[in-house]
Amino acid sequence: MNTSVSEALKNGSQQRYTFLLWEQHQQRLPDHVDPQRVRFQKIKTQIHQQLVESIDLSAVSEEDRPWLMAQLRHLAQQAAANPQHELSSQQQEQMVQELMDELFGLGPLEPLMRDPLVSDILVNDPYTVYVEREGQLELTPVVFADEEHLRRLIQRIVARLGRRIDESSPMVDARLPDGSRVNAVLPPLALDGPCLSIRRFGFRPLSIDDLVANGSVPPQVVQFLQAAVQARLSILISGGTGAGKTTLLNALSAFIPEQERIITIEDSAELILRNRHWVRLETRPPNLEGQGEVTQRDLVRNTLRMRPDRIIVGEVRGPEVWDMLQAMNTGHEGSLTTVHANSAPDALVRLEMMIQLAGGTVPVEVIRQYIACGIRLVVHLARLKGGVRRLIQVVEIQSAQKGQYRLVPVFEFHQKGVDAQGRAQGEFWATGQVPQCVHRIEELGLELPADLFAKRRLAT
Ligand SMILES: Nc1ncnc2c1ncn2[C@@H]1O[C@H](COP(=O)(O)OP(=O)(O)OP(=O)(O)O)[C@@H](O)[C@H]1O
Ligand SMILES: [Mg+2]
Repeated sequence: MNTSVSEALKNGSQQRYTFLLWEQHQQRLPDHVDPQRVRFQKIKTQIHQQLVESIDLSAVSEEDRPWLMAQLRHLAQQAAANPQHELSSQQQEQMVQELMDELFGLGPLEPLMRDPLVSDILVNDPYTVYVEREGQLELTPVVFADEEHLRRLIQRIVARLGRRIDESSPMVDARLPDGSRVNAVLPPLALDGPCLSIRRFGFRPLSIDDLVANGSVPPQVVQFLQAAVQARLSILISGGTGAGKTTLLNALSAFIPEQERIITIEDSAELILRNRHWVRLETRPPNLEGQGEVTQRDLVRNTLRMRPDRIIVGEVRGPEVWDMLQAMNTGHEGSLTTVHANSAPDALVRLEMMIQLAGGTVPVEVIRQYIACGIRLVVHLARLKGGVRRLIQVVEIQSAQKGQYRLVPVFEFHQKGVDAQGRAQGEFWATGQVPQCVHRIEELGLELPADLFAKRRLAT
Protein backbone atom coordinates (compact mmCIF):
# COMPACT_ATOMS: atom_id res chain seq x y z
CA MET A 1 0.00 0.00 0.00
CA ASN A 2 1.13 3.48 -0.79
CA THR A 3 2.63 5.54 2.11
CA SER A 4 0.27 8.48 1.84
CA VAL A 5 -2.69 6.14 1.66
CA SER A 6 -1.51 4.27 4.75
CA GLU A 7 -0.87 7.59 6.52
CA ALA A 8 -4.37 8.79 5.72
CA LEU A 9 -5.65 5.55 7.17
CA LYS A 10 -3.50 5.94 10.30
CA ASN A 11 -4.81 9.46 10.83
CA GLY A 12 -8.30 8.06 10.84
CA SER A 13 -9.35 9.99 7.78
CA GLN A 14 -11.50 7.34 6.19
CA GLN A 15 -12.97 9.72 3.66
CA ARG A 16 -9.58 10.94 2.49
CA TYR A 17 -8.30 7.37 2.31
CA THR A 18 -11.20 6.32 0.10
CA PHE A 19 -10.69 9.35 -2.09
CA LEU A 20 -6.97 8.64 -2.57
CA LEU A 21 -7.61 5.03 -3.42
CA TRP A 22 -10.31 6.03 -5.84
CA GLU A 23 -7.97 8.57 -7.47
CA GLN A 24 -5.18 6.03 -7.71
CA HIS A 25 -7.57 3.60 -9.35
CA GLN A 26 -8.99 6.22 -11.71
CA GLN A 27 -5.60 7.26 -12.96
CA ARG A 28 -4.23 3.73 -12.98
CA LEU A 29 -1.15 5.00 -11.20
CA PRO A 30 1.65 2.48 -10.80
CA ASP A 31 2.03 1.12 -7.26
CA HIS A 32 5.21 3.05 -6.51
CA VAL A 33 3.47 6.39 -7.04
CA ASP A 34 2.31 8.57 -4.16
CA PRO A 35 -1.09 9.98 -5.25
CA GLN A 36 -0.49 13.05 -3.04
CA ARG A 37 2.40 13.99 -5.27
CA VAL A 38 0.26 13.63 -8.35
CA ARG A 39 -2.41 15.80 -6.75
CA PHE A 40 0.24 18.41 -5.95
CA GLN A 41 1.36 18.40 -9.59
CA LYS A 42 -2.21 18.77 -10.78
CA ILE A 43 -2.75 21.84 -8.61
CA LYS A 44 0.52 23.18 -9.92
CA THR A 45 -0.44 22.80 -13.56
CA GLN A 46 -3.71 24.64 -12.85
CA ILE A 47 -1.92 27.57 -11.25
CA HIS A 48 0.76 27.49 -13.92
CA GLN A 49 -1.90 27.82 -16.59
CA GLN A 50 -3.40 30.81 -14.79
CA LEU A 51 0.01 32.46 -14.48
CA VAL A 52 0.88 31.93 -18.12
CA GLU A 53 -2.45 33.39 -19.16
CA SER A 54 -2.05 36.41 -16.89
CA ILE A 55 1.27 37.54 -18.41
CA ASP A 56 2.49 37.63 -21.96
CA LEU A 57 5.94 36.15 -21.44
CA SER A 58 7.06 36.91 -24.99
CA ALA A 59 6.45 40.63 -24.48
CA VAL A 60 8.97 40.76 -21.62
CA SER A 61 12.51 41.77 -22.50
CA GLU A 62 15.64 40.26 -20.94
CA GLU A 63 16.18 43.33 -18.70
CA ASP A 64 12.70 43.07 -17.28
CA ARG A 65 13.19 39.46 -16.33
CA PRO A 66 14.03 40.03 -12.63
CA TRP A 67 10.93 42.24 -12.35
CA LEU A 68 8.84 39.57 -14.05
CA MET A 69 10.19 36.87 -11.78
CA ALA A 70 9.29 38.92 -8.71
CA GLN A 71 5.78 39.52 -10.06
CA LEU A 72 5.24 35.87 -10.87
CA ARG A 73 6.57 34.79 -7.51
CA HIS A 74 4.08 37.12 -5.84
CA LEU A 75 1.19 35.79 -7.94
CA ALA A 76 2.29 32.21 -7.28
CA GLN A 77 2.35 32.85 -3.53
CA GLN A 78 -1.20 34.20 -3.64
CA ALA A 79 -2.46 31.29 -5.72
CA ALA A 80 -0.75 28.66 -3.56
CA ALA A 81 -2.30 30.16 -0.44
CA ASN A 82 -5.82 29.66 -1.79
CA PRO A 83 -7.52 27.59 0.96
CA GLN A 84 -9.26 25.51 -1.69
CA HIS A 85 -5.93 23.77 -2.40
CA GLU A 86 -5.48 22.69 1.25
CA LEU A 87 -1.71 23.16 1.19
CA SER A 88 0.36 23.47 4.37
CA SER A 89 2.68 26.48 4.55
CA GLN A 90 5.63 24.23 3.72
CA GLN A 91 3.77 22.84 0.71
CA GLN A 92 2.91 26.38 -0.39
CA GLU A 93 6.58 27.31 -0.33
CA GLN A 94 7.41 24.25 -2.34
CA MET A 95 4.60 25.08 -4.77
CA VAL A 96 6.03 28.55 -5.41
CA GLN A 97 9.50 27.11 -6.03
CA GLU A 98 8.13 24.45 -8.36
CA LEU A 99 6.03 27.00 -10.23
CA MET A 100 9.17 29.05 -10.85
CA ASP A 101 10.88 25.86 -12.09
CA GLU A 102 7.91 25.26 -14.32
CA LEU A 103 8.04 28.77 -15.77
CA PHE A 104 11.79 29.11 -16.18
CA GLY A 105 13.26 25.61 -16.01
CA LEU A 106 12.45 21.99 -16.62
CA GLY A 107 9.49 21.73 -14.24
CA PRO A 108 9.52 18.69 -11.93
CA LEU A 109 12.92 17.68 -13.36
CA GLU A 110 14.63 20.88 -12.24
CA PRO A 111 15.73 19.56 -8.79
CA LEU A 112 17.34 16.58 -10.55
CA MET A 113 19.12 18.96 -12.94
CA ARG A 114 20.51 20.81 -9.92
CA ASP A 115 21.91 17.64 -8.33
CA PRO A 116 25.58 17.50 -9.32
CA LEU A 117 25.74 13.70 -8.92
CA VAL A 118 22.99 13.00 -11.44
CA SER A 119 24.36 12.08 -14.85
CA ASP A 120 21.20 10.86 -16.60
CA ILE A 121 17.50 11.61 -16.18
CA LEU A 122 15.18 9.06 -17.78
CA VAL A 123 11.44 9.76 -17.93
CA ASN A 124 9.63 6.59 -18.98
CA ASP A 125 6.12 7.94 -18.37
CA PRO A 126 4.60 10.75 -16.29
CA TYR A 127 4.90 8.70 -13.11
CA THR A 128 8.19 6.90 -13.61
CA VAL A 129 11.39 8.94 -13.55
CA TYR A 130 14.76 7.28 -13.10
CA VAL A 131 18.15 8.90 -12.56
CA GLU A 132 21.65 7.59 -12.79
CA ARG A 133 23.77 8.65 -9.83
CA GLU A 134 27.41 7.57 -9.64
CA GLY A 135 26.81 4.80 -12.13
CA GLN A 136 23.67 3.39 -10.45
CA LEU A 137 20.12 3.65 -11.73
CA GLU A 138 17.56 4.76 -9.13
CA LEU A 139 13.81 5.31 -9.28
CA THR A 140 12.94 8.82 -8.03
CA PRO A 141 9.71 10.04 -6.40
CA VAL A 142 9.38 12.72 -9.12
CA VAL A 143 6.05 12.66 -10.97
CA PHE A 144 4.22 14.76 -13.52
CA ALA A 145 0.53 15.64 -13.23
CA ASP A 146 -0.34 13.56 -16.26
CA GLU A 147 0.75 12.76 -19.79
CA GLU A 148 -0.23 16.21 -21.00
CA HIS A 149 2.05 17.86 -18.43
CA LEU A 150 5.03 15.80 -19.63
CA ARG A 151 4.15 16.46 -23.25
CA ARG A 152 4.04 20.22 -22.61
CA LEU A 153 7.47 20.14 -20.98
CA ILE A 154 8.90 18.31 -23.99
CA GLN A 155 7.30 20.82 -26.36
CA ARG A 156 8.73 23.68 -24.33
CA ILE A 157 12.27 22.28 -24.27
CA VAL A 158 12.22 21.56 -27.98
CA ALA A 159 10.64 24.90 -28.96
CA ARG A 160 13.26 26.81 -26.95
CA LEU A 161 15.92 25.09 -29.02
CA GLY A 162 14.20 26.16 -32.23
CA ARG A 163 13.14 22.61 -33.09
CA ARG A 164 9.80 20.93 -33.52
CA ILE A 165 8.24 17.75 -32.23
CA ASP A 166 4.74 16.52 -33.00
CA GLU A 167 2.95 13.53 -34.42
CA SER A 168 4.41 13.99 -37.88
CA SER A 169 7.99 14.23 -36.57
CA PRO A 170 7.78 12.46 -33.22
CA MET A 171 11.51 12.22 -32.38
CA VAL A 172 14.01 14.88 -31.40
CA ASP A 173 17.65 14.79 -30.40
CA ALA A 174 18.95 18.13 -29.21
CA ARG A 175 21.27 19.87 -26.81
CA LEU A 176 20.28 22.16 -23.93
CA PRO A 177 22.12 25.46 -23.48
CA ASP A 178 24.18 23.91 -20.62
CA GLY A 179 25.45 21.16 -22.96
CA SER A 180 23.13 18.39 -21.75
CA ARG A 181 21.82 16.08 -24.46
CA VAL A 182 18.05 15.62 -24.76
CA ASN A 183 16.15 12.96 -26.61
CA ALA A 184 12.36 12.92 -26.74
CA VAL A 185 10.00 10.49 -28.43
CA LEU A 186 6.25 10.96 -28.70
CA PRO A 187 3.49 8.51 -29.57
CA PRO A 188 2.85 6.78 -31.91
CA LEU A 189 6.55 5.81 -31.80
CA ALA A 190 6.59 5.67 -28.01
CA LEU A 191 3.84 3.20 -27.23
CA ASP A 192 3.18 4.22 -23.62
CA GLY A 193 3.12 7.99 -24.01
CA PRO A 194 5.84 10.61 -24.35
CA CYS A 195 9.28 9.72 -23.03
CA LEU A 196 12.32 11.84 -22.42
CA SER A 197 16.00 11.09 -21.77
CA ILE A 198 18.51 13.69 -20.65
CA ARG A 199 22.25 13.00 -20.54
CA ARG A 200 23.47 15.74 -18.24
CA PHE A 201 26.53 17.66 -19.04
CA GLY A 202 26.55 20.37 -16.44
CA PHE A 203 29.06 18.46 -14.42
CA ARG A 204 32.82 18.09 -14.77
CA PRO A 205 33.71 15.14 -16.97
CA LEU A 206 35.75 12.39 -15.32
CA SER A 207 39.48 12.86 -15.86
CA ILE A 208 41.96 10.06 -16.37
CA ASP A 209 42.94 10.40 -12.68
CA ASP A 210 39.30 9.86 -11.71
CA LEU A 211 39.16 6.73 -13.87
CA VAL A 212 42.30 5.39 -12.18
CA ALA A 213 41.00 6.31 -8.74
CA ASN A 214 37.69 4.47 -9.23
CA GLY A 215 39.45 1.40 -10.58
CA SER A 216 38.16 1.65 -14.17
CA VAL A 217 41.61 1.77 -15.73
CA PRO A 218 44.87 0.65 -14.08
CA PRO A 219 47.71 3.22 -13.95
CA GLN A 220 50.02 1.00 -16.04
CA VAL A 221 47.54 1.04 -18.92
CA VAL A 222 47.25 4.81 -18.61
CA GLN A 223 51.03 5.07 -18.96
CA PHE A 224 50.85 3.11 -22.19
CA LEU A 225 47.85 4.99 -23.59
CA GLN A 226 49.44 8.33 -22.75
CA ALA A 227 52.56 7.40 -24.71
CA ALA A 228 50.39 6.06 -27.56
CA VAL A 229 48.46 9.34 -27.83
CA GLN A 230 51.66 11.37 -27.72
CA ALA A 231 53.23 9.13 -30.39
CA ARG A 232 50.20 9.80 -32.65
CA LEU A 233 48.96 6.23 -32.76
CA SER A 234 45.31 6.19 -33.86
CA ILE A 235 43.02 4.73 -31.22
CA LEU A 236 39.50 3.31 -31.50
CA ILE A 237 37.53 3.11 -28.25
CA SER A 238 34.73 0.52 -28.32
CA GLY A 239 31.99 -0.51 -25.93
CA GLY A 240 28.24 -0.74 -25.35
CA THR A 241 25.85 2.06 -24.46
CA GLY A 242 27.00 4.05 -21.46
CA ALA A 243 30.21 2.00 -21.11
CA GLY A 244 32.22 5.22 -20.82
CA LYS A 245 33.55 5.60 -24.37
CA THR A 246 33.03 9.35 -24.62
CA THR A 247 34.40 9.80 -21.10
CA LEU A 248 37.63 7.94 -21.92
CA LEU A 249 37.98 9.75 -25.24
CA ASN A 250 37.65 13.04 -23.44
CA ALA A 251 40.15 12.00 -20.77
CA LEU A 252 42.71 10.71 -23.29
CA SER A 253 42.54 13.91 -25.30
CA ALA A 254 44.25 15.63 -22.36
CA PHE A 255 47.45 13.82 -23.47
CA ILE A 256 47.49 15.55 -26.86
CA PRO A 257 50.35 18.06 -26.84
CA GLU A 258 49.18 21.63 -26.25
CA GLN A 259 50.50 23.05 -29.56
CA GLU A 260 48.54 20.62 -31.74
CA ARG A 261 45.37 21.72 -33.51
CA ILE A 262 42.40 19.51 -32.68
CA ILE A 263 39.13 19.41 -34.58
CA THR A 264 36.23 17.50 -33.04
CA ILE A 265 33.22 16.29 -34.99
CA GLU A 266 30.09 15.16 -33.19
CA ASP A 267 26.42 14.55 -33.85
CA SER A 268 25.61 16.16 -30.57
CA ALA A 269 28.52 17.99 -28.96
CA GLU A 270 29.54 16.37 -25.66
CA LEU A 271 33.32 16.58 -25.53
CA ILE A 272 34.87 19.12 -23.21
CA LEU A 273 38.57 19.21 -24.02
CA ARG A 274 41.05 21.12 -21.96
CA ASN A 275 43.26 21.86 -24.96
CA ARG A 276 43.33 25.46 -26.11
CA HIS A 277 43.80 24.83 -29.82
CA TRP A 278 40.44 23.22 -30.36
CA VAL A 279 37.70 23.75 -32.97
CA ARG A 280 34.32 22.14 -32.37
CA LEU A 281 32.03 21.04 -35.20
CA GLU A 282 28.56 19.58 -34.89
CA THR A 283 26.31 18.01 -37.53
CA ARG A 284 22.97 19.55 -38.49
CA PRO A 285 19.74 17.61 -39.06
CA PRO A 286 17.62 18.48 -42.11
CA ASN A 287 15.18 21.38 -41.70
CA LEU A 288 11.40 21.08 -41.91
CA GLU A 289 11.57 20.92 -45.70
CA GLY A 290 14.09 18.08 -45.44
CA GLN A 291 16.98 20.26 -46.60
CA GLY A 292 20.22 21.63 -45.26
CA GLU A 293 21.47 18.45 -43.58
CA VAL A 294 25.18 18.38 -42.76
CA THR A 295 26.48 14.89 -41.92
CA GLN A 296 29.56 13.71 -40.06
CA ARG A 297 30.96 12.66 -43.42
CA ASP A 298 30.59 16.22 -44.78
CA LEU A 299 32.34 17.54 -41.69
CA VAL A 300 35.22 15.03 -41.87
CA ARG A 301 35.82 16.00 -45.50
CA ASN A 302 35.71 19.67 -44.68
CA THR A 303 38.04 19.21 -41.73
CA LEU A 304 40.81 18.07 -44.05
CA ARG A 305 40.87 21.63 -45.41
CA MET A 306 41.19 23.10 -41.93
CA ARG A 307 44.77 22.00 -41.29
CA PRO A 308 44.04 19.68 -38.38
CA ASP A 309 46.77 17.93 -36.42
CA ARG A 310 44.20 15.60 -34.91
CA ILE A 311 40.71 14.71 -35.94
CA ILE A 312 38.43 13.41 -33.20
CA VAL A 313 35.06 11.98 -34.24
CA GLY A 314 32.88 11.58 -31.14
CA GLU A 315 31.33 8.34 -32.39
CA VAL A 316 31.51 6.82 -35.84
CA ARG A 317 28.16 5.55 -37.07
CA GLY A 318 28.31 5.52 -40.86
CA PRO A 319 30.15 6.33 -44.06
CA GLU A 320 32.40 8.93 -42.40
CA VAL A 321 34.54 5.99 -41.28
CA TRP A 322 35.85 5.60 -44.81
CA ASP A 323 36.91 9.25 -45.06
CA MET A 324 38.40 9.10 -41.61
CA LEU A 325 40.46 6.02 -42.46
CA GLN A 326 41.69 7.67 -45.61
CA ALA A 327 42.74 10.67 -43.57
CA MET A 328 44.50 8.42 -41.04
CA ASN A 329 46.32 6.64 -43.87
CA THR A 330 47.45 9.87 -45.46
CA GLY A 331 49.17 11.72 -42.70
CA HIS A 332 46.48 12.49 -40.11
CA GLU A 333 47.62 9.92 -37.64
CA GLY A 334 46.79 10.18 -33.99
CA SER A 335 43.07 10.44 -34.62
CA LEU A 336 40.71 9.19 -31.96
CA THR A 337 37.15 7.95 -32.15
CA THR A 338 34.64 5.62 -30.53
CA VAL A 339 32.31 2.94 -31.83
CA HIS A 340 29.42 1.02 -30.37
CA ALA A 341 30.48 -2.68 -30.20
CA ASN A 342 30.46 -5.76 -27.97
CA SER A 343 34.15 -6.59 -28.18
CA ALA A 344 37.34 -5.36 -29.83
CA PRO A 345 37.01 -7.73 -32.84
CA ASP A 346 33.32 -6.81 -33.13
CA ALA A 347 34.37 -3.13 -33.30
CA LEU A 348 36.34 -3.89 -36.46
CA VAL A 349 33.41 -5.79 -37.98
CA ARG A 350 31.24 -2.75 -37.30
CA LEU A 351 33.67 -0.48 -39.10
CA GLU A 352 33.70 -2.84 -42.09
CA MET A 353 29.90 -2.85 -42.19
CA MET A 354 29.74 0.93 -42.07
CA ILE A 355 32.16 1.15 -44.96
CA GLN A 356 30.23 -1.43 -46.99
CA LEU A 357 26.93 0.31 -46.30
CA ALA A 358 28.46 3.49 -47.66
CA GLY A 359 27.86 1.84 -51.01
CA GLY A 360 31.42 1.31 -52.11
CA THR A 361 32.54 -1.73 -54.04
CA VAL A 362 35.87 -2.02 -52.29
CA PRO A 363 36.77 -5.69 -51.60
CA VAL A 364 36.74 -6.68 -47.93
CA GLU A 365 40.48 -7.51 -47.91
CA VAL A 366 41.23 -3.95 -48.98
CA ILE A 367 38.90 -2.56 -46.33
CA ARG A 368 40.65 -4.66 -43.67
CA GLN A 369 44.03 -3.52 -44.93
CA TYR A 370 42.89 0.08 -44.61
CA ILE A 371 41.57 -0.47 -41.10
CA ALA A 372 44.76 -2.26 -40.01
CA CYS A 373 46.99 0.50 -41.42
CA GLY A 374 44.88 3.34 -40.07
CA ILE A 375 44.08 2.18 -36.55
CA ARG A 376 46.76 0.91 -34.20
CA LEU A 377 44.92 0.23 -30.94
CA VAL A 378 41.42 -0.80 -29.95
CA VAL A 379 40.47 -0.08 -26.34
CA HIS A 380 37.35 -1.97 -25.33
CA LEU A 381 35.24 -0.88 -22.34
CA ALA A 382 32.20 -2.36 -20.64
CA ARG A 383 29.63 -1.52 -18.02
CA LEU A 384 29.58 -4.57 -15.78
CA LYS A 385 27.21 -5.80 -13.09
CA GLY A 386 26.33 -3.16 -10.50
CA GLY A 387 27.16 -0.31 -12.90
CA VAL A 388 30.96 -0.50 -12.63
CA ARG A 389 32.88 0.51 -15.75
CA ARG A 390 36.05 -1.32 -16.63
CA LEU A 391 38.57 -1.22 -19.41
CA ILE A 392 38.25 -4.80 -20.70
CA GLN A 393 40.96 -5.07 -23.30
CA VAL A 394 43.67 -3.13 -25.10
CA VAL A 395 44.33 -4.78 -28.44
CA GLU A 396 46.99 -3.93 -31.00
CA ILE A 397 46.07 -4.40 -34.66
CA GLN A 398 49.34 -5.65 -36.13
CA SER A 399 48.33 -6.36 -39.72
CA ALA A 400 45.64 -7.69 -42.01
CA GLN A 401 47.27 -10.18 -44.31
CA LYS A 402 45.22 -12.27 -46.74
CA GLY A 403 42.14 -10.57 -45.34
CA GLN A 404 42.75 -11.72 -41.71
CA TYR A 405 43.59 -9.32 -38.90
CA ARG A 406 46.36 -10.10 -36.51
CA LEU A 407 45.02 -8.85 -33.20
CA VAL A 408 47.28 -8.95 -30.16
CA PRO A 409 45.81 -8.36 -26.69
CA VAL A 410 48.19 -6.34 -24.52
CA PHE A 411 46.15 -5.71 -21.37
CA GLU A 412 43.00 -7.46 -20.14
CA PHE A 413 40.47 -7.46 -17.34
CA HIS A 414 39.41 -10.82 -15.92
CA GLN A 415 36.13 -10.71 -14.04
CA LYS A 416 36.00 -12.78 -10.83
CA GLY A 417 32.39 -12.67 -9.66
CA VAL A 418 30.70 -9.90 -7.70
CA ASP A 419 31.16 -8.31 -4.26
CA ALA A 420 28.60 -8.09 -1.44
CA GLN A 421 26.88 -5.10 -3.13
CA GLY A 422 26.51 -7.02 -6.38
CA ARG A 423 29.25 -5.04 -8.11
CA ALA A 424 31.55 -6.86 -10.52
CA GLN A 425 35.04 -7.63 -9.25
CA GLY A 426 38.16 -8.75 -11.05
CA GLU A 427 41.82 -8.31 -11.94
CA PHE A 428 43.75 -6.47 -14.60
CA TRP A 429 46.51 -8.38 -16.34
CA ALA A 430 49.36 -7.61 -18.70
CA THR A 431 49.23 -10.48 -21.21
CA GLY A 432 53.00 -10.70 -21.70
CA GLN A 433 52.75 -9.63 -25.37
CA VAL A 434 54.88 -6.63 -26.27
CA PRO A 435 53.05 -4.44 -28.79
CA GLN A 436 54.94 -3.55 -31.97
CA CYS A 437 54.03 0.10 -31.59
CA VAL A 438 56.52 0.32 -28.71
CA HIS A 439 59.21 0.94 -31.35
CA ARG A 440 57.36 3.99 -32.60
CA ILE A 441 56.98 5.23 -29.02
CA GLU A 442 60.67 4.72 -28.27
CA GLU A 443 61.77 6.34 -31.53
CA LEU A 444 60.08 9.51 -30.34
CA GLY A 445 62.11 9.39 -27.14
CA LEU A 446 59.10 8.58 -24.98
CA GLU A 447 60.03 6.19 -22.20
CA LEU A 448 58.03 3.30 -20.82
CA PRO A 449 59.07 1.10 -17.87
CA ALA A 450 61.00 -1.99 -19.04
CA ASP A 451 58.57 -4.44 -17.39
CA LEU A 452 55.36 -2.67 -18.42
CA PHE A 453 54.29 -5.54 -20.69
CA ALA A 454 55.68 -8.45 -18.62
CA LYS A 455 52.97 -11.02 -17.91
CA ARG A 456 51.55 -10.29 -14.45
CA ARG A 457 48.57 -9.08 -12.50
CA LEU A 458 48.56 -5.30 -12.38
CA ALA A 459 48.39 -3.57 -9.03
CA THR A 460 45.56 -1.01 -9.04
N1 LIG B 1 34.88 4.84 -15.70
C1 LIG B 1 33.75 5.36 -15.26
N2 LIG B 1 33.40 5.27 -13.96
C2 LIG B 1 32.25 5.78 -13.52
N3 LIG B 1 31.35 6.42 -14.30
C3 LIG B 1 31.63 6.54 -15.58
C4 LIG B 1 32.83 6.02 -16.14
N4 LIG B 1 32.84 6.26 -17.46
C5 LIG B 1 31.70 6.92 -17.72
N5 LIG B 1 30.97 7.10 -16.60
C6 LIG B 1 29.65 7.73 -16.52
O1 LIG B 1 28.77 6.93 -17.29
C7 LIG B 1 27.92 7.71 -18.08
C8 LIG B 1 28.08 7.34 -19.53
O2 LIG B 1 29.40 7.66 -19.94
P1 LIG B 1 29.76 7.98 -21.46
O3 LIG B 1 28.87 9.03 -22.03
O4 LIG B 1 31.21 8.23 -21.51
O5 LIG B 1 29.42 6.58 -22.12
P2 LIG B 1 29.33 6.22 -23.66
O6 LIG B 1 29.85 4.84 -23.79
O7 LIG B 1 29.98 7.27 -24.49
O8 LIG B 1 27.76 6.24 -23.86
P3 LIG B 1 26.92 6.34 -25.22
O9 LIG B 1 26.78 4.94 -25.70
O10 LIG B 1 25.62 6.94 -24.78
O11 LIG B 1 27.68 7.22 -26.17
C9 LIG B 1 28.28 9.15 -17.78
O12 LIG B 1 27.37 9.62 -16.83
C10 LIG B 1 29.66 9.08 -17.20
O13 LIG B 1 29.92 10.10 -16.28
MG1 LIG C 1 29.28 8.36 -26.11
